[in-house]
Amino acid sequence: MTQAAAGTATRPAAQGGAEDLRGRTVVLIGGGSGIGLRVAHRVAAAGAHVVLGGRTAARLEAAAAELGAAATWRTVDTGDPASLAAFFDRTERIDHLFTSAASYRLGPMRELSDEDAASPFDSKFWGQYHAVRLAAPKLAEDGSVVLMSGAASARPAGPAPAYVACNAAIEGLGRGLAVELAPVRVNTVAPGTVDGHLWSNRPAADREAAFAQYRRNTLLGRPGAEDEIAQAVVFLFTNGFTTGSTLYTDGGYTLR
Ligand SMILES: NC(=O)c1ccc[n+]([C@@H]2O[C@H](COP(=O)([O-])OP(=O)(O)OC[C@H]3O[C@@H](n4cnc5c(N)ncnc54)[C@H](OP(=O)(O)O)[C@@H]3O)[C@@H](O)[C@H]2O)c1
Repeated sequence: MTQAAAGTATRPAAQGGAEDLRGRTVVLIGGGSGIGLRVAHRVAAAGAHVVLGGRTAARLEAAAAELGAAATWRTVDTGDPASLAAFFDRTERIDHLFTSAASYRLGPMRELSDEDAASPFDSKFWGQYHAVRLAAPKLAEDGSVVLMSGAASARPAGPAPAYVACNAAIEGLGRGLAVELAPVRVNTVAPGTVDGHLWSNRPAADREAAFAQYRRNTLLGRPGAEDEIAQAVVFLFTNGFTTGSTLYTDGGYTLR
């Protein structure tokens, strides 16, 4: 069957360099720091216009200053539907969306309140779900969404069952959205432990214990770098034949 006869078939993306994002608009909620900010640098270098979102104006302003003319920013709280709606109202067209924004508590079922146990779902799952729902009418047909999960979905590092389940749910959401939104592509990135902004804000003893455990439990013997995860996100933005996948950027954590 030819592509034309197939009706819904899409054409291979035009050649021109896998990371040529000239004229594209990339929305990065959570792009004011960490992995999102490294994605911002990569896509800006590839020619994209970047829209940064997050809750803290000063953080976004500093991030946009690093990026120069390629970036604009506006505050948004992914936990507040009205704030998310206002954020997307002001965006005309979106080529790629990545939402690394999330804030939650994790821990054992026997210790967490129900409210804290629900927090990964409230923030990380529903925050991304609502962001995609509001972005969907504005997504370019050859555009994409990358969801953020985490390798804990496949291999829990410790007792945090609601957080583990939330990440697994996000990977399922990615497959479901890939079916619904095609030809827009939807993929999920599942990082292992990353030595970067998120962990730098946690108590030093917790961080060192987590990194030591990760060195022991990972084929490559080290935590990842934010830019290594960002590179995977840009791959998922730009590879025109990848959809519905989960990419474990975890140094082999899920295999050891
Ligand atoms: N780093 C790791 O080791 C690792 C491993 C696996 C998965 N992950 C996942 O990666 C994500 C965190 O990314 P990161 O590591 O780059 O950490 P990060 O630097 O803390 O980035 C999170 C960003 O999201 C923003 N944010 C948080 N809650 C928000 C909300 N409700 N609305 C809007 N913006 C919000 C934060 O800024 P404001 O506080 O100013 O809003 C911050 O800029 C989480 O989903 C986490 O589960 C991280």
